[in-house]
Amino acid sequence: MVNVKETVGRLAADYVEDGMVVGLGTGSTAYWFVDEIGKRVQSGQLANIICVPTSRQTAQQAEQLGIPLVTLDEVAAIDVLVDGADETTTDFMGIKGGGGALLHEKIVADNARKIIWIVGEDKVVDTLGKFPLPVEIIQFGSWNLFRKFEAAGLRPSFRKKGPDSLFITDSGNYIIDLHLEEIPAPQQIAHDLIHTVGVVEHGLFLGYADVVLAGKEDGTVVRYEREQ
Ligand code: A5P
Repeated sequence: MVNVKETVGRLAADYVEDGMVVGLGTGSTAYWFVDEIGKRVQSGQLANIICVPTSRQTAQQAEQLGIPLVTLDEVAAIDVLVDGADETTTDFMGIKGGGGALLHEKIVADNARKIIWIVGEDKVVDTLGKFPLPVEIIQFGSWNLFRKFEAAGLRPSFRKKGPDSLFITDSGNYIIDLHLEEIPAPQQIAHDLIHTVGVVEHGLFLGYADVVLAGKEDGTVVRYEREQ
C-alpha cells in the first residue's frame, strides 16, 4: 500500500538545493520530508544546508538525524519551507495548526521566499472549514474569550492534551478550535480574529503557499503551482 504522506514528503526534498536555508514544517507529513532531508545530509548531497524548525517536535527529529539547525533569528530569510496543511484550496487558501504549531509555522512562513505544502489529495477542498479552525490564544482571560466565540456562533472547543489537561503550544498559549463547517469568506474571519484581543494567531494561511503537492493513493502526485 502506498504511504501518501511519505511519497509527497520525500518528493518535496527535491526543492532543496545544497547551500540553502530550509524551513522544516511540523506534522505527520512533514515528518517524511525531514526524514528525507536527514538522509541527504548524511549522504553529503545536502551537506551545506542549514535548517529552521517550526516546532520542538520537528527540532527533536532533525537533531536525531544530524541536520544542522539554527533559530529563525540567526538567518535573514528562509529559501524554501516545506510544511503540511490540514486543508487547502487550489488557489492556496489553507488551514494549518492541527498539530498545534500554527504560530511558529506562520512566523517561519512569513520569512520564507518559497513555500511548498505537502498533503494527501483528500485535504484539497473547494471551501475551507470542515477541518476545525485552530486559534492560538493567551491563557489569561481565555474562558471569557471562549464565551465570546460561543456567543458569536463560532462553535469553539478548547484543544486538549488529555482528559483533564489543555494543550499548550510551544509559546505557552492555548488553542481554541472553531467548528465552523464552512468558511465562505476566509479573509473576513481572518481579519476579525487577528483583531480580537487575546488572540495571538489563527490557522488561516491565505495565499502563503507557492506550490501544493497533493499525493494520491495510486502513488501519483498532483502539483498545483502559483503563477509567478
Ligand atoms: C501543525 O501545527 C500543522 O499545521 C500541520 O502542518 C498540519 O496539521 C498537517 O499535519 P499532518 O501532516 O500531520 O496532517
